Amino acid sequence: MESRNDGNIEALPPSTMTDMQTNHHPLPLPLAKERSDDAQHERYVYVSPDIDKTAFDDLNIRNIDNADHRAEPGEIFDRFVSAICVVSDEYLDQNAAVVSEWLGSLFSRELLFIILSKTERSVDSFLGVHRELIYLVIPATTPKSYLRQFVENGYREMFLRFDRLGYQTRLELSLQDMRRITRIGQLLSTEKDFEVLIETILREVMVVVGADAGSIYVTEPYKGERPEFLRFKKSALQLSASEFLLPVDSTSIAGYVASSGLPLMIPDCYALPETEPYSFNREYDQQHHYYTRSMLVIPMKNYRNEIIGVIQLINKRLETNRPLTYEEMGAGEVGKFRVVDMDKASAVAGQAAVAIENNRLIRSIHNLFEGFVRASVTAIEQRDPTTSGHSFRVAEYTVGLAQTVDRVSSGPFSLLKFTPEQIREVRYASLLHDFGKVGVREKVLVKAKKLYPDQLSEIRWRFRFARKSLEYTYARKKLAYLKHEGAVAYRDYERFMDQELSQKLEELQGMLQIVELSNEPNVVDGSTVSQIEQIALSGVTIEDGSTVPFLTHNELLSLQVRRGNLDQVERLEIESHVTHTYRFLVQIPWTGDLRNVPDIAYGHHEKLDGTGYPLGLNQREILPQTRMMTIADIFDALTAPDRPYKKSLNVESALDILGKEAKEGHIDADLLKIFIEAKIYEVVKDSALL
Ligand SMILES: [Fe+2]
Ligand SMILES: [Fe+2]
Repeated sequence: MESRNDGNIEALPPSTMTDMQTNHHPLPLPLAKERSDDAQHERYVYVSPDIDKTAFDDLNIRNIDNADHRAEPGEIFDRFVSAICVVSDEYLDQNAAVVSEWLGSLFSRELLFIILSKTERSVDSFLGVHRELIYLVIPATTPKSYLRQFVENGYREMFLRFDRLGYQTRLELSLQDMRRITRIGQLLSTEKDFEVLIETILREVMVVVGADAGSIYVTEPYKGERPEFLRFKKSALQLSASEFLLPVDSTSIAGYVASSGLPLMIPDCYALPETEPYSFNREYDQQHHYYTRSMLVIPMKNYRNEIIGVIQLINKRLETNRPLTYEEMGAGEVGKFRVVDMDKASAVAGQAAVAIENNRLIRSIHNLFEGFVRASVTAIEQRDPTTSGHSFRVAEYTVGLAQTVDRVSSGPFSLLKFTPEQIREVRYASLLHDFGKVGVREKVLVKAKKLYPDQLSEIRWRFRFARKSLEYTYARKKLAYLKHEGAVAYRDYERFMDQELSQKLEELQGMLQIVELSNEPNVVDGSTVSQIEQIALSGVTIEDGSTVPFLTHNELLSLQVRRGNLDQVERLEIESHVTHTYRFLVQIPWTGDLRNVPDIAYGHHEKLDGTGYPLGLNQREILPQTRMMTIADIFDALTAPDRPYKKSLNVESALDILGKEAKEGHIDADLLKIFIEAKIYEVVKDSALL
């Protein structure tokens, strides 16, 4: 059985017609029959009863009202008849209604009338026959030999019309193909998801050539001159099939095409000549209850002529819209791919190669940038090992929250939607939000107490010196007394002096204890502050008679901090990390879809009531993405593993504190609600980041 759609006519499936629908060619299908198909192309002469038939003896003669060739339902396109109708004008005039009905029911659309008339008449004077169907009106007295010649000429005229319409149809159809291929190019160039891209390529190329099934392979990255492996990506029969590798060599059909770089057209895979180097793997057919008969295999090449992949198209359909049946395939009743299919598939493959290569390049740029961001964040977090993993966790929480917000269908955020690019934007902003800590001195960054360790150590040495100095003074006094007063009186003196010394040493020890206690980053009371001030006024006298105070001015200021462990200067320095982050991020030439990264990160210490830093923005001025990040940032700071200066809180306590922050108008209460209800805080649990 031959395909009805041989040649260039292809009825496109409804799902793919879109813009072409209005241009779909309305010509009857028989026009596309190949002229060489003579068996289907019978010639008839329909003659009215009053005409001498002997002139057409060698032709198929039928009476004009003969019912033999009336159309049966479903038959209309199956056969094709060329007919010349030779009728008298009298017959036409008398049987106009019969002829008209007969014409309407005849399945042939290719016929012309030769009318024999006794008088001179115009073509419009014959009722029942449209003027376009009238080829000639000739005298009723025309000799038989001439009449025979006119019939032959009529056939020729009909074939010329046929050819002209056929070419026109083909031209219009190739324009349709071009439009379709252009559209596929546009479709492929805008698809960002690699898996969807691969699926789209396969689906579109199958439609273009009318293939019943197909598979697509892409080359594995390679270092040498040629790819070594093809990766099976998708099969139209089983879209979820797992991927596998195929060597690029002559053992398989796809491998052969990838290694030769040439397309392959196989009429029947079950009848491959033994001389071919490749063989057909029947296992696939057996597994999928399928028969692979005809095959068209096209290499996808980039502009450097390198193989990017292979498209394997299987079994040309007999009718574009109808899948082949197992019986048809088993019996080999399957269309054959033609050169025109190869041309069309190659055109799509060229576009597919460009799209795949672009997609790969974009992915490698993403990977490169991703690697750079991760390395930068890791480097910055190594300056303060106790906060290690913070940025990665904040990114996980923020992305989790943004994705949830994207899904909510009610409440104040029901209209807020995020594209995958915007999610990526939030992720980068979160990963890099604290990058500006690079501009904060490390000792400030890791400062755990009010004093730096070297400051405390120096203070301890001062007290140690003071103790030794006292002991020395008292020892000298006792020695002098012993020399002058003798051993007997010395005993009482010694006891007295020792008591006095130990009292003074205890005082010193007490002062040092107050210093060490005040050094903790707790809230300190007023009396402790005044004690510290007293200590700062005391000191130890050194050899030259000058006094070194126990606490320097800066040390005193640090110990006077009433809350936390940072003084004003240090606090500002820490806070400056946000500005450093922003300055760093605006230097990066972000692509359009990531342009908000600097702004999102810049606001992560702002508060909705305007009391945050560095800009003191209010609720309306803080981006929702930033508000999400702030919640994630605080939550992680509270629950992160113990730091030297801060105990880790459990989830409930952290959420309590966040609740208070929301109540006080610092963070977004609605977003916090989603954070809690959707248990976003659990997203990091399974992650290796903790
Ligand atoms: Fe921060
Ligand atoms: Fe942070």
